[in-house]
Amino acid sequence: MKILVTGGAGFIGSHVVDGLLAAGHHVAVIDDLSSGSRDNLPATVPLHIVDIVDGQAVRGVFERERPEAVCHQAAQMSVSRSVREPLFDAQVNCIGLINVLDAAVATGCARFVFASSGGVLYGDVTVPAPETTPANPVSPYGITKWVGERYLEFYAKEHGLAAVALRYSNVYGPRQNPHGEAGVVAIFCKKLLAGEPATINGDGRYVRDYVFGPDVAAANVAALTHTLPGVVPKSLTSLNIGTGVGVDVNELEAVVRGEVSRVLAERGRLAHLPDPVHGPARPGDLRSNLISAARAGEVLGWRPTVAFPAGVARTVAWFAAAKTR
Ligand SMILES: NC(=O)c1ccc[n+]([C@@H]2O[C@H](COP(=O)([O-])OP(=O)(O)OC[C@H]3O[C@@H](n4cnc5c(N)ncnc54)[C@H](O)[C@@H]3O)[C@@H](O)[C@H]2O)c1
Repeated sequence: MKILVTGGAGFIGSHVVDGLLAAGHHVAVIDDLSSGSRDNLPATVPLHIVDIVDGQAVRGVFERERPEAVCHQAAQMSVSRSVREPLFDAQVNCIGLINVLDAAVATGCARFVFASSGGVLYGDVTVPAPETTPANPVSPYGITKWVGERYLEFYAKEHGLAAVALRYSNVYGPRQNPHGEAGVVAIFCKKLLAGEPATINGDGRYVRDYVFGPDVAAANVAALTHTLPGVVPKSLTSLNIGTGVGVDVNELEAVVRGEVSRVLAERGRLAHLPDPVHGPARPGDLRSNLISAARAGEVLGWRPTVAFPAGVARTVAWFAAAKTR
């Protein structure tokens, strides 16, 4: 199959590209490189450096590439930027999405997979939330993910697309950008490998469901390419992609610190890593957010394969190697 991945030079998108190539599919990428990098992609993958807000440019790429399916990962994904600049957030996450949907239907694309978010839709939940949990987004970013699903549903019904929204929990892994506000595993890897203490917001008792990036990519590959009874034209299927396992930030820091110590010791650097420091709590941070991916198991045959400590080990190894490149 020929698949176009928007945001394919980013963290999750580039793992989707790897998964599609490994399964023998043809891939092209749209990315404006605002947070992604060419280095995340094999040199053979065509990269169109295009802003999805530019509808004409997006349409031009679709006319050239003629994909059979689209994996839409490109987004403005900073919650705090969405609060500061809701208009910019809506331009990328709503207008950009509509541009991609319009180009897809105009060029005969049949399947559309959208990166949604369980984290921002369900709010504070202490047991893994199923997809039937009422959506209650509180930030402009969360609102655009919810509205994005509504647009997807409209385009599916009106234009016959088979559409899937994958509602990720907190994704982590190699290639995640450590410079933003999200991606606490990447941020702590970078800090601790530099011998600096990790900063934990507030008391650190904030529980999240961490899912490994390549596992999330496998869910995308299944949703894009498999013949699935639950994924049919004219309908939207929304599926949670997470582990249902909660880890708080204090535990997370200890796992990352242990793994960084091990890697440094292997290199003959037995440095004592500094203890974490506690900063102010972030206003509005949810205490607990967990999602149930039981339905993704039924519809996609998907389940997470990498447990948190093993995923952290692979992530630390990648950041350690990236540091010495
Ligand atoms: N990382 C998570 O924990 C998480 C959780 C839930 C949902 N998501 C969603 O998953 C998707 C991928 O996130 P990620 O973590 O890989 O982030 P990322 O920043 O690594 O990837 C986003 C990619 O989109 C590109 N992009 C951004 N704006 C663009 C624009 N206007 N035009 C073209 N390209 C643009 C960026 O350059 C980047 O390569 C996003 O839609 C995000 O909202 C991520």
